[in-house]
Amino acid sequence: MNMIVETKNVTKTFGMNGIAVEAVRGIDLQVREGEFVAIVGPSGSGKSSLLHLIGAMDHPTSGEVFFRERPLSRMNDGARTDLRAREIGFIFQTFNLLPMLNVFENVEVVMRFGGLAKRERIQRTESLLKTVGLAERMRHLPNRLSGGERQRVAVARALANQPALVLADEPTGNLDSTTGTGILELLREICNSRKQTVIMVTHDFRAASYADRVLVLRDGRIRGEAGLKGVTDTHKTLNQLLELELE
Ligand SMILES: Nc1ncnc2c1ncn2[C@@H]1O[C@H](COP(=O)(O)OP(=O)(O)OP(=O)(O)O)[C@@H](O)[C@H]1O
Ligand SMILES: [Mg+2]
Repeated sequence: MNMIVETKNVTKTFGMNGIAVEAVRGIDLQVREGEFVAIVGPSGSGKSSLLHLIGAMDHPTSGEVFFRERPLSRMNDGARTDLRAREIGFIFQTFNLLPMLNVFENVEVVMRFGGLAKRERIQRTESLLKTVGLAERMRHLPNRLSGGERQRVAVARALANQPALVLADEPTGNLDSTTGTGILELLREICNSRKQTVIMVTHDFRAASYADRVLVLRDGRIRGEAGLKGVTDTHKTLNQLLELELE
């Protein structure tokens, strides 16, 4: 099976007021096309930082990130922007919606650069917003929405271009369990039927149980890993992994 993402000994150090914070400390990761990977770990363990490196949003301090075997460090800014726009969908922890655009426009705008006909863009936007339960809110501005509703707009926007890779940072963090389940089933579905790949950061073990594979991050390192494919008692497996996290 082909790898869509690979990282080789990737590190990220942030300098803050003369103090170096080693957010990511040497991560080797391989993610296959069509795989659903969950990353769990405590606050500050480097989950978002790693996701930003994988998504060409940030440059590693050392090491290399590969997208379909192409090293990101060899791409110029134009090529990186292109990659992000065409191949990757982000669901940010902070949602990053455009405040001047309404819900419909926030989703539709990302498809404008892909050469899709307007009618197709409208159809896709309406269908996605319906799927995430926001059909009635399409003309509202983001500042009129609750946190969970904004999060659902961010999910719809990330999936709009049917990107090969979806990077989701706590996509269900602000959602009640019914709505959260809907989003998780949607992410599961795009991996199963469209062979899209999902890398999802989550604090929630119930969310992680939707993945094929779960990685535990701690202090910027991968400390544990468990496959969930074909596992009947995912809760037991996840609990064993959690114990490892607490050690
Ligand atoms: N731009 C930045 N400048 C300085 N330090 C940063 C920056 N971004 C992240 N860090 C630091 O790097 C470490 C890892 O942060 P990161 O956001 O990756 O953690 P996280 O696992 O996503 O946490 P959370 O679960 O709270 O979102 C933290 O100590 C954080 O303070
Ligand atoms: Mg984070």
